Amino acid sequence: MQAAESYFVDFRDVWLAYNDELRAQNHFAVEAIDLHVGHGEFIAIVGPSGCGKSTFMKLATGLKMPSMGKILIDGQPVTGPLKISGMAFQAPSLLPWRTTVDNVLLPLEIVEPHRSQFKQKRKEYETRARALLQKVGLAGYEDKHPWQLSGGMQQRASICRALIHEPKMLLLDEPFGALDAFTREELWCILRDLQAEQKFNVILVTHDLRESVFLADTVYVMSKSPGRFVVKRDIALPRPRDLEITYTREFTDIVHELRGHIGALRQGAGKAGAPIPQ
Ligand SMILES: Nc1ncnc2c1ncn2[C@@H]1O[C@H](COP(=O)(O)OP(=O)(O)OP(=O)(O)O)[C@@H](O)[C@H]1O
Ligand SMILES: [Mg+2]
Repeated sequence: MQAAESYFVDFRDVWLAYNDELRAQNHFAVEAIDLHVGHGEFIAIVGPSGCGKSTFMKLATGLKMPSMGKILIDGQPVTGPLKISGMAFQAPSLLPWRTTVDNVLLPLEIVEPHRSQFKQKRKEYETRARALLQKVGLAGYEDKHPWQLSGGMQQRASICRALIHEPKMLLLDEPFGALDAFTREELWCILRDLQAEQKFNVILVTHDLRESVFLADTVYVMSKSPGRFVVKRDIALPRPRDLEITYTREFTDIVHELRGHIGALRQGAGKAGAPIPQ
């Protein structure tokens, strides 16, 4: 195990009940979470619907405080919403009245220290936003409105929006779920390249096991009732990973193994919720 201060994400026996009533009934949405993620590591979380994946994300970004336990991100105890994180969700949720580039700029208008400098630095920020849009293949669409973009294009723009303030941590909650298989794989590669270049930490929630194995350094499987991490699987596939790797035996074996874990959980075998070895 590494020294505690060298973790980027450090959950120490974290429990969360959504309100006092549930807390009084010992009804926790997630429980006994011990999770330690290194700097620049890409983790994926898979698990059945309602098991607590989004709850984990809310805890990791300080939108929810744990009922018990402690969370440190980048060595600092989490006491409120974090500025060092960017988020993207299943629905791209771009503002329809803003152009693509203006949507991407939005976090800089809201989050300090950018907010107070926004007027003076607007040109510089806009150049940054346009460069990012170009990188994800949206050159030529910067000044269009969201309704002029396909679903995949909107999702690319929302990833740019999540990254524009250069966060140390990117949280993605099923970002590619609504896309067709080809677009999804294209976006895997874009995310892979951005992360290789900028080395931010990623927490990706997904239902797609292939996606988790292709992208992540470590895949965690979560169980439902109680919401716990029950499997930690290191993905030792070499990087950079090409889509071709998804057709190899090594890759599909890992996907099958994870599918086996999820299948066992669905049959209730995971209810014991044994803590995972770290
Ligand atoms: N605001 C809330 N108040 C009370 N309970 C909640 C709240 N949000 C989520 N829960 C409960 O917490 C548990 C975990 O929910 P969560 O949204 O984290 O699941 P999930 O793994 O993200 O599911 P999905 O895959 O469907 O998105 C569920 O039982 C859910 O009903
Ligand atoms: Mg969810």
